[in-house]
Amino acid sequence: MMKQADLYELSFRETLAMQDRTAAEEPAAEVARIALERLKSAGQEVRIYDSSEKLLGWAVDGIVINDGTPLIFQGNLQKALKGNYAYTITDAKLLYFTVPIQDKYYQNSFVFEFVEDISYFYVMMDQIRYILLAGAAGFLFLITLASLFIARNTTKPIKYLLGATEKFSKQQFQQVNLNRKDELGMLAAGLNRMGIQLNEYIQHQKQFVSNVSHELKTPLAAIRGFSQYLYEEENEDKELQKIYAHLVNESDRLTLLINELLLLSRFDKAGSDEMGKEKTDLTVLTERVAAEMRSKAEDQDILLDFKPGKPVFACVNPTLMSHAAANIVDNALKYSRGGTQVRIETFIREEKAVIQIRDEGVGIREDEIARVQERFYRAENAHVAKGSGLGLSICKEIVEKFDGKLEIESKVGVGTTVSILLPLALKLQE
Ligand SMILES: Nc1ncnc2c1ncn2[C@@H]1O[C@H](COP(=O)(O)OP(=O)(O)O)[C@@H](O)[C@H]1O
Ligand SMILES: [Mg+2]
Repeated sequence: MMKQADLYELSFRETLAMQDRTAAEEPAAEVARIALERLKSAGQEVRIYDSSEKLLGWAVDGIVINDGTPLIFQGNLQKALKGNYAYTITDAKLLYFTVPIQDKYYQNSFVFEFVEDISYFYVMMDQIRYILLAGAAGFLFLITLASLFIARNTTKPIKYLLGATEKFSKQQFQQVNLNRKDELGMLAAGLNRMGIQLNEYIQHQKQFVSNVSHELKTPLAAIRGFSQYLYEEENEDKELQKIYAHLVNESDRLTLLINELLLLSRFDKAGSDEMGKEKTDLTVLTERVAAEMRSKAEDQDILLDFKPGKPVFACVNPTLMSHAAANIVDNALKYSRGGTQVRIETFIREEKAVIQIRDEGVGIREDEIARVQERFYRAENAHVAKGSGLGLSICKEIVEKFDGKLEIESKVGVGTTVSILLPLALKLQE
């Protein structure tokens, strides 16, 4: 608009200059007439005023109008006569723009005013506003999409890595791979390496225990044999006899420990399918175990109670399961006083085959119940009997090999109940 105004001003002053040259003393009205003729199409309307705000000429749509009075914005005229541009925009979106015109003495001698319909400008503004709004909405949408994408892209692998570390802590080693080249990918690779090393380390350790146990087995058998021989041959010296008996006892205990360690290392290596599973009636199996333990119970004046019930089937290795059950019955006897009762039962509970051994013995402290299944862990009460602390951990391994679990309930001074829970084998199932 300013540029346009400048252009009109230039043109007007050209007219002024020309008039100056041709006739020195042209009246202002003549100058205005000529200027209007030149500039009549400059806007929808064009007006020329003199320095006393008098309308000298007026054109509408390029046609010079000789009578009538248009709408005049006095304020704009006054501003223009002070040498400033001024404008007013009406409700009909018409722009009234006044331009001061100076003569050769730099006096504001005329005012040129043009009127322009600027509704197109408002339409344009509306369009720009619309485009900006649409752009902002689109931008917002894209940002949301991008953040969703980023969140998914990072939280998912982090969850995966968390899962892997959790499995590591349970000694379940698996390959960790994210297929990415960024920091998360590097982290995954690092975890993977750590898992491999940890696994190797644990395997080495187990192998070591297994090798040592094997190496100890033969010399231990010799020691056991010789001490037995010495014990039997020594008839005079009671003191020596006592020592030899002690030797026999201790080597028996060591042999038991070694055998348990070897059994454990066998589990570490073998999967459950190598265990020779077969559908077994746990009631029959448990009855046999009870029969084997009966004489030991009688020695301790403990009543071993087993009432054969309905057959309960589970898919297990019968030798190993007998071993586990015997171990638990052995504990029940070891940690009970004479005159008490040990009850053995088999039944089905919540779709599980259960072997339950209940004693009235010393009991296990509540905070130790969870720990007695750990290798080598012996509870505070363990001083009442000899043992390695391996028995229950072996039971646990055996039961878990057949997808079962051990449940221990106990109260100090009241007794302990140990249950072996196994998946039930249906009668029709082979
Ligand atoms: N029936 C039970 N009553 C009381 N304490 C028990 C019983 N069974 C196991 N325990 C406790 O759990 C510990 C671990 O048992 P186990 O692994 O069989 O080792 P141990 O060689 O001592 O028998 C035992 O030392 C004992 O403290
Ligand atoms: Mg034991």
